Amino acid sequence: MFGVSSLGTVSLQEIRKDHATPQCYQFYFHRDRGLNAAMMQSAREAGVNVMMLTVDSITGGNRERDKRSGFGIPFRPKASALLDFVLKPAWGLNYLTHERLSLPQLDAHVKLGGTTMSISRYFSEMLDPDMRWEDVAAMVKDWGGHFCLKGVMSAADARRAADIGCDGIILSNHSGRQLDGTRAPFDQLAEVVDAVGDRLDVMVDGGFTRGNHVIKALSLGAKAVGLGSYYLFPLAAAGQRGVERALSLLQDELIRDMKLMGARSVADLGRSNLRARAALPK
Ligand SMILES: Cc1cc2nc3c(=O)[nH]c(=O)nc-3n(C[C@H](O)[C@H](O)[C@H](O)COP(=O)(O)O)c2cc1C
Repeated sequence: MFGVSSLGTVSLQEIRKDHATPQCYQFYFHRDRGLNAAMMQSAREAGVNVMMLTVDSITGGNRERDKRSGFGIPFRPKASALLDFVLKPAWGLNYLTHERLSLPQLDAHVKLGGTTMSISRYFSEMLDPDMRWEDVAAMVKDWGGHFCLKGVMSAADARRAADIGCDGIILSNHSGRQLDGTRAPFDQLAEVVDAVGDRLDVMVDGGFTRGNHVIKALSLGAKAVGLGSYYLFPLAAAGQRGVERALSLLQDELIRDMKLMGARSVADLGRSNLRARAALPK
């Protein structure tokens, strides 16, 4: 399953053209209901398999590194980035010789007026801070197909997601980039699987960088594990080759570790594989 962000730099159609992989379209809830409806319609026409609404970004996180670098959409390097170009000539040349980054999913419906908008401004000005469960329930109904909520972190919210007809949830803290001090999604996993695992698919992301991390989540009852930074860093460093290498390393680790555990398939993974670390004596 390939997740495509509504802030992605390649269109759903272009990805679909080259890859038959099922697509999960990640979406934000905008103040402008007409924009929400239009983006959902475009996704429908593009043949998206799963609609996924992110619910942990009602406002932007305090992304200090983005503030320092002046990162925004569309990306316009600041003068201070010149030093980066000089220090990383191959990257700089690559940037200059490739097409400009754009946001096709969003650009098709709104014009940002040619101005650079920081991610935090996008979140605080365009997204609806007053999103309610009823709004999401209406969206689930309107979409009519597979629907998933991303960024759920508690058993109580997971139950409500099941109540309004979601087929899946992703336990996620947005890679720790939203709520400062939040728990790791992995630490919430067992509780949420126990609460709703028989009603919807519980998936998880955040900090998964090793085959054995994935095995632990599947053993606790996750149906799938999401990877973000794990492929983005190799993508930035070495493009497609980097991503392919990262995925093949992960696959090797998964297979090797499962062999060493005596597990023939994912169905053999369960809680009996895991032991909670005993509390340290005082
Ligand atoms: C550079 C970057 C951009 C992201 N963009 C989005 C996004 O547009 N929408 C979204 O729901 N999550 C976004 N995320 C969060 C990921 O979907 C995912 O939850 C997270 O990366 C998982 O944690 P990990 O990076 O530790 O694997 C982004 C993460 C990163 C690192």
